[in-house]
Amino acid sequence: MLDDPTGFLRWLAAARQQGCVCFDDVDVAQVFAIAAVAALARQDGAAPLRLEPAASTGAGRFAHAMGIAEVVRGAEERLPSERDRSVTLTRVRGRGPWESISERIVGLLLPAPRPPAADLFYHVIVELLRNVGQHSNDALGGIVAAQINDGGPYQGAPALQVVVVDNGIGVFEALRHMRPSIATPGEALVRALEPHVSGAFPEGESGSGENAGLGLFVISEMAKETDGRLLLASRGASYFLDRSRSPDSQPVITNGDAPDYPGTLVVFETALGHVGSFDGIMAHIRDLAAQRTPKRITYRWLRFEPAPPGVHRILVGVASEDTAAAAAFAQSVLAPRLVRREPVVLDFGTIRVTTQSFLHALLHEAVRLAWALRVPVHVANASPAVRAQLELVEGYSLGG
Ligand SMILES: Nc1ncnc2c1ncn2[C@@H]1O[C@H](COP(=O)(O)OP(=O)(O)OP(=O)(O)O)[C@@H](O)[C@H]1O
Ligand SMILES: [Mg+2]
Repeated sequence: MLDDPTGFLRWLAAARQQGCVCFDDVDVAQVFAIAAVAALARQDGAAPLRLEPAASTGAGRFAHAMGIAEVVRGAEERLPSERDRSVTLTRVRGRGPWESISERIVGLLLPAPRPPAADLFYHVIVELLRNVGQHSNDALGGIVAAQINDGGPYQGAPALQVVVVDNGIGVFEALRHMRPSIATPGEALVRALEPHVSGAFPEGESGSGENAGLGLFVISEMAKETDGRLLLASRGASYFLDRSRSPDSQPVITNGDAPDYPGTLVVFETALGHVGSFDGIMAHIRDLAAQRTPKRITYRWLRFEPAPPGVHRILVGVASEDTAAAAAFAQSVLAPRLVRREPVVLDFGTIRVTTQSFLHALLHEAVRLAWALRVPVHVANASPAVRAQLELVEGYSLGG
């Protein structure tokens, strides 16, 4: 269980040494543990762990209900489905479809009327799946799963746990080329949680076309804001923040001195009742990030007051939640208009909630163009959370 990630990693290390995982001696295993095992047992992997079917224990039965046999076989890519308040293990390969899978998982566990926790978990899952696709180098991709726990220690405060896991190069390896000052895997995990630390662009900058170095920062702040838990175990190091028992507790970090995970294992868990307002959480994260972004802005060109009449209006919903579509749209429609010095209105009317990565793809270059050419980009109908995220993008895009 997530109460004791080191205990789990130790158990897994012993199993890896034997080359075989058996759930015979395990009564209870949460979904994160099942996913972490499944990734290592994928038969199309280089040296898969052998899985001994153990239908005799609770953990063995749960692993089967979660579809471990199918995922390990990798027969066909299956969509997530729900079983008893858990979402089955799903392989996600390459560069997508991160948004639709995340939406499906959230919809299965938190059906309408959509609670604020649904927006939060949607964010977390998209960002973690993007990281696997963009940084892990795992040819098999990642595995995602989720579970609502409401028994035992969760009695009276049901919590949603999501896991995203890969067997790729790990955070240290992914970061060290752009950040040569990072000396150890443990340091890499701590730095990866800071804003604008990324393997995609060098120190001192605040973003590239695809990345802002914000995904893990936002996720860790979400864990803190909701008194949740975040586990990151990645080749040589682990980071575990557990705010569920005490709101002041500090993360426990291991670096070479404890069992690790051969790849990157990320688990996020928070009590559903702790997610009060998604808008409030995003506004808080915007303010935190703004304090950490270099201040070089003299004038802002994202405008939230009503646009003058006659300005060309673009409905952002057209590009929906698809990051690739947003990037293509930014390049083919937005940038040429700004270069021609034509102001635009971006109308977020049909967008309820959006991810940081989507807005980054849409606007990172656009706000820099708007600033350089002094052309306003007006924003209409943005929800408070979307506005907070837009201000965040403008802050760091101009700052770096
Ligand atoms: N699954 C992973 N495998 C390997 N490295 C990872 C993984 N997830 C994150 N990282 C490393 O941690 C860095 C920080 O991740 P984070 O999500 O915070 O930022 P980003 O992905 O670079 O940018 P953004 O999320 O804003 O698009 C990444 O740039 C990458 O170097
Ligand atoms: Mg990321």
